[in-house]
Amino acid sequence: MTDLQAIVEEIHASLSPRRGKGKVADYIPQLAHVDPQKFGMAVVTVDGETHLAGDAEEAFSIQSISKVFMLTLGLGKHGEGIWKRVGREPSGSAFNSIVQLEYEAGIPRNPFINAGAIAITDLVLAGHTPKEAIGEVVRFLRYLADEEDITIDQAVARSEQATGFRNVALANFMRSYGKLDHAAELVLGVYFHQCALAMSCRQLARAGLFLANSGTNPLTGHRVVSHLRARRINALMLTCGHYDGSGDFAYRVGLPGKSGVGGGILAVAPGKASVAVWSPGLNENGNSLLGSLALEMLAARTGWSVF
Ligand code: DON
Repeated sequence: MTDLQAIVEEIHASLSPRRGKGKVADYIPQLAHVDPQKFGMAVVTVDGETHLAGDAEEAFSIQSISKVFMLTLGLGKHGEGIWKRVGREPSGSAFNSIVQLEYEAGIPRNPFINAGAIAITDLVLAGHTPKEAIGEVVRFLRYLADEEDITIDQAVARSEQATGFRNVALANFMRSYGKLDHAAELVLGVYFHQCALAMSCRQLARAGLFLANSGTNPLTGHRVVSHLRARRINALMLTCGHYDGSGDFAYRVGLPGKSGVGGGILAVAPGKASVAVWSPGLNENGNSLLGSLALEMLAARTGWSVF
C-alpha cells in the first residue's frame, strides 16, 4: 500500500526550496499582498482519508477555480440548455482574452475562460438578485465541502470590482450580442464575489471530491450530480481548465484540473481522490508554477492519470 501522507510530505519538502518562484498576480491589487512563500497541499481520497502538507489549512482566494462550481450550479439550474450560451472547446487563448468573442458572435469558447464564466454566472443569476445569488454560491460551497467556515474575502471582491475593466468589457460585449440576460454590473457583482471566495486547500479538495466519486460526495453521501455529469465536468476541466496551458497540464499531470490566479489548483483523480494545491507564484499562462509541479510529481508517484 502506498503511504500517501509520506508522498505528499515528500513532494512538499522537495519543492519547498523553490517557494517564491513565479509571479504573483497583481492585476487585482489585493492579490499582490499575498505572501509568495505560501505553499499548501491537500489530498482527500474517496475513502475519506485526508493528507495535508504545508499551508493546507490557510484560506486563499480561489478565483477561477470557482468556475467549476458555478458550472455545476448552472448545469443544475438549466441543464444542457447552458450550451446555447457557451461552448465546450479549448480557447488556446489567455483567460481574459476578448478576441474570439467577436468571431463567435458573443458565445465564449468554454465555461472556464472569463467570458464563459460570466455567461454562466448570468444564467445562475436568473430569478435572483445578485445578493441572493452570492448567498446561494457560498451555501453551495459549504454544502459541497461540508464545512461552514467558508466566506468571501470582501477586500478581494472590492479590489476586483474597482479594477476589473476587462471583465466589464467582456460582459458588455456579450450583452451587445444579446447573449447576456442581465446588465453587466449585476452579473459582475456576482462574478467578482464568486472569484473572491476564500478557501483552504483542505476545504477545496473536500468541495471537489464529488467529481472524483462519480458525482456523489463520499464524505456526506450527498449526490451532487449524476455520474455522467461528473464525467463531463471533468472532461471540460481536462481540456479547458488551464487556458492555453491545458495541453501542457494534461501532458504533464494527466488529470482534470482547474487553476486560479490566486495560485490554487484543484485536480481530480477519478475513483481515487480530489487534490488541491496552493502556491501564489504563477507561470507564463497564469497557472501556479509550484502547484503544477506538485501535481506532476503526485501523479508520477501515485500513477494517478486518466490516461
Ligand atoms: O476575472 C478575473 O480575472 C479573476 N477574477 C479570475 C481569473 C483567474 O483566476 C484566471 N485563472 N488562472
